[in-house]
Amino acid sequence: MKVLQSLAEVKEWRCSLAPDESLGLVPTMGTLHAGHRSLLAAARTGCDRVALSIFVNPKQFAASEDLGAYPQHAEEDLESAAEEGVDLVWFTREEEMYPERFVTRVELLPLADRLCGKARPHHFGGVALVVLKLFNIFAPRRAYFGNKDFQQATIIERMVADLNLDIEIVRCPLVREPDGIALSSRNLNLSREGRRSALALSRGLFAAGELHAGGERDVSSLLLAASGVIRSEARVELEYLELVDPTSLEPFDQVVPDGGALLLVAAMLDGVRLIDNLFLGGGDGSRDEGSG
Ligand code: PAF
Repeated sequence: MKVLQSLAEVKEWRCSLAPDESLGLVPTMGTLHAGHRSLLAAARTGCDRVALSIFVNPKQFAASEDLGAYPQHAEEDLESAAEEGVDLVWFTREEEMYPERFVTRVELLPLADRLCGKARPHHFGGVALVVLKLFNIFAPRRAYFGNKDFQQATIIERMVADLNLDIEIVRCPLVREPDGIALSSRNLNLSREGRRSALALSRGLFAAGELHAGGERDVSSLLLAASGVIRSEARVELEYLELVDPTSLEPFDQVVPDGGALLLVAAMLDGVRLIDNLFLGGGDGSRDEGSG
């Protein structure tokens, strides 16, 4: 496994691949958990070569957010990458990604200003920008994203379609701990008590899921079932809870259609921002569910 720091070396590595070798890219911010590892495993199965980028991208954080507190565990990440059979790890440097005089922006409204974008108006522009740069640098045949960040994966798919990028976006299922909590690098920043309280999010989603499985289609009833469980945990500050169309991310306001709906939640807990989602209707709502 090659571990590189400089952009020039990465480009050289990319050029050394044979034209018919397929490259799978897994862009991450590091602190790899089982969710990231499932992306690497999917890339390993689906492609001849696998590249992993690790970069805590400052452009997707506002000044008030947790950029400085974002966990970083480079050594453990290298172990995980080696175990997953990664060919190249790139520890991207900020000065190479965003050199002086960098001004370009990427905008994907209105997808980017709903849900998480309401509280984080700058966020998805920063994500799309860095992902587009990574796509240009690596020219992968496939890139892998988890449905835990459902809105992010939807936005990236949109960008790839809008800009005619010749890259297949492979969406992999959200991965949960055995007790139901969605895996996230930020979980490491929760106290033991906070970790327990965080379970309210998945339990709330599952409560709505059960109601939906029993035939309930009324949006208010489904949201109430979830919010009742989530709000019973006093430490959780609910940011949003919405039932949306998984493709347009537009909210349903009366009844959910037979095809199903995506229930998403975001909340703050002890200063840590957590997100989770559940597709009501079977599967996980993405078009390319878990393939690759
Ligand atoms: O999901 C993430 O870890 C990040 O948003 C990504 C896609 C690597 C862009 O920085």
